[in-house]
Amino acid sequence: MPRTEFISTGFYVPERVVYNDEFTQWMDTSDEWIRTRTGITERRWAAEGQLGSDLAAEATKVALEHAGMRAGDLDCIVYCTLSPDYFFPGGGVYLQRKLGLADIPCLDVRNQCTGFIYGLSVADAWIKSGQYNRVLLVGAEVHSTGMDLSTRGRDLAVLFGDGAGAAILGPTADAGRGVLSTHLFADGSQAELLWCDLGGTAHKPRMTPEHLEAGLHFPVMQGREVFKHATTKMPEAVAAALATNGLSTADIKLLIPHQANLRISEMVQRRMGLRDDQVYNNIQRYGNTTAASIPIALDECVQAGRLARGDLVVLTAFGSGFTWGSAAVRW
Ligand code: COA
Repeated sequence: MPRTEFISTGFYVPERVVYNDEFTQWMDTSDEWIRTRTGITERRWAAEGQLGSDLAAEATKVALEHAGMRAGDLDCIVYCTLSPDYFFPGGGVYLQRKLGLADIPCLDVRNQCTGFIYGLSVADAWIKSGQYNRVLLVGAEVHSTGMDLSTRGRDLAVLFGDGAGAAILGPTADAGRGVLSTHLFADGSQAELLWCDLGGTAHKPRMTPEHLEAGLHFPVMQGREVFKHATTKMPEAVAAALATNGLSTADIKLLIPHQANLRISEMVQRRMGLRDDQVYNNIQRYGNTTAASIPIALDECVQAGRLARGDLVVLTAFGSGFTWGSAAVRW
């Protein structure tokens, strides 16, 4: 059975940079609070009318260019997001249309911050089984249109940013390389610790002025609980990846944790006993871009020459659901 390799990666973030200080015009916060609690100094916000699928299309174009491929070479799209352009259909078909493609399948993955790892697991299985040979895996998010910018929503509004990351995956004949394993986990008993009530079908009518007045269309989070679970579950998922492959933390060239909060990444690093050069973080510049954070970070590492053929890179994520997971990849 062939293994799945990353043929290329690419990312795109909107031009508009939003610095921490900007939030003080809307809410009671400060650059100092945001930086010390989260490590974030800036994030990107999409321009008016710029949709998640637009960001995804730009990221895909970069990944195609890096691969020396054309959109027509792709035979499947896996689109991961918690912020779809519309309630339905999912973003995959809009991305397909924007790439000028037709007929190829488009799968939408709704696993929030763990979306890219869930999507990678599906893509890996398809490629290994021979069903598809060139899978485009994308994580794309627009959070900026859905944040409560009043003081009520300050814990979440400052954390998130917009962006998209893409990877093109295919089979490799080199048995030593590629995706070694993926581990996926979920615990629905904790769903409301990080969630958004409105937008689904639970309410009839689905949306009223009272709902909007109460802010039910904004995401809410029990920050401390999320922090506690994230810093426990990500190391566990990485440990599962290493154990499955008979590897140890010393074998890790790069750990790319989902970029939720720099303090979370630092605690994961400490708990796993990893050196600074073994962990990549870029949340300082982009905030939390949910399903896009891992592919954005991955492409930055590739472009900076931090990954050579044969290096072990481990991806891990945790997010709403709760969902969490890991992937071990021999680059
Ligand atoms: N600016 C200023 N003050 C803020 C603030 C902001 N942007 N957001 C929250 N606060 C306030 C709170 O209202 C609270 O005030 P109070 O003590 O008067 O009630 C105080 O800061 C402390 O809040 P708390 O939630 O206890 O802070 P914390 O130390 O837990 O840090 C987070 C908050 C959000 C940074 C932290 O909980 C966290 O990172 N959690 C995980 C978040 C995450 O990664 N989510 C996505 C997962 S994929």
